[in-house]
Amino acid sequence: MEPVTVTGLGPMGRALAAALLRAGHPVTVWNRTAAKADALVDQGASRAVTAAGEGPLVIVCLIDDAAVHAALDPVAEDLRGRTLVNLTSTSPAQARATAAWAGRHGIGYLDGAIMTPTPSIGGPSALVLYSGPEEVYEPARPVLADLGGTATHLGTDPGLAAAYDVALLDIFWNAVGGLVHGLALARAEGISGTRLAPYATPVFGMLPEMLTRFAERLEEGRHPGDRSTIASAAAGIEHIMETARAHDIDTGALAGSRELLRRAIDAGHGADGLSRLAELLGERADAMIPVNGSPPR
Ligand SMILES: NC(=O)c1ccc[n+]([C@@H]2O[C@H](COP(=O)([O-])OP(=O)(O)OC[C@H]3O[C@@H](n4cnc5c(N)ncnc54)[C@H](OP(=O)(O)O)[C@@H]3O)[C@@H](O)[C@H]2O)c1
Repeated sequence: MEPVTVTGLGPMGRALAAALLRAGHPVTVWNRTAAKADALVDQGASRAVTAAGEGPLVIVCLIDDAAVHAALDPVAEDLRGRTLVNLTSTSPAQARATAAWAGRHGIGYLDGAIMTPTPSIGGPSALVLYSGPEEVYEPARPVLADLGGTATHLGTDPGLAAAYDVALLDIFWNAVGGLVHGLALARAEGISGTRLAPYATPVFGMLPEMLTRFAERLEEGRHPGDRSTIASAAAGIEHIMETARAHDIDTGALAGSRELLRRAIDAGHGADGLSRLAELLGERADAMIPVNGSPPR
């Protein structure tokens, strides 16, 4: 069993270290607040002297990119010739910059994104995405498999795991935003959440099919308005905003959606399906090509 260091013992770092201990690895742990290592040391882990720990493989899992560099920059030379797997959630640009930093110090680098919560770690439902050089991933694979579930190597670009992570969390947080907004609006109209939920569940149930269909349309570059159109959505959003405003409920997110719909109509896409919006969102407003010749509002 390969020795592993886990640097960072927040809830996720502790779950990672515990799973590796259960799998039989000699585990060395480090945390800025040293006392958080106590329970793991009781379970058989060794306490590291520095954030670099020891052994060929170091897994780092801290609150953010700045914390990773605060912990590891001072010990970069101790990591030379070893493999660093960074499971801290960061942006793709930060992941690429940390990979470059690792390259300058002769550290084998993999970036990762943990997509499931702490109780999943070590079990069948864990999902961790990785990106970075194949020759670094392959030797680390048996240890990473002991974190449980599905480990997926997305490609050699170290920013890929973070790119999937931010795109998936973007979907998640926008859905959560819609969920809490709808509950607030219902409440303001005297409808309890528990009364609304049975009707809201099928609304959420439509989303997986829409996601697949929109994804296909983006691939094809075709956005037929056969099921519903951008023009129809733009009309429909007005009375939701009016009701929210009447109850003094924030309309910032809806206003953003309305603005996007308007932009799409101004650019001549009113008869298209909603998947067109993902294309428009990716373009700068001033780069859009309006079919009627007037600049988008
Ligand atoms: N928890 C989950 O369910 C979950 C799920 C998926 C992904 N993740 C990701 O996993 C990562 C870790 O999350 P977490 O839940 O374990 O806890 P967290 O609260 O995000 O991070 C806590 C850890 O960061 C350390 N830290 C903060 N600032 C530091 C600094 N300046 N220098 C050194 N260490 C610093 C803390 O040390 P101290 O103890 O000394 O404060 C602690 O070890 C995050 O990127 C998170 O997004 C978590």
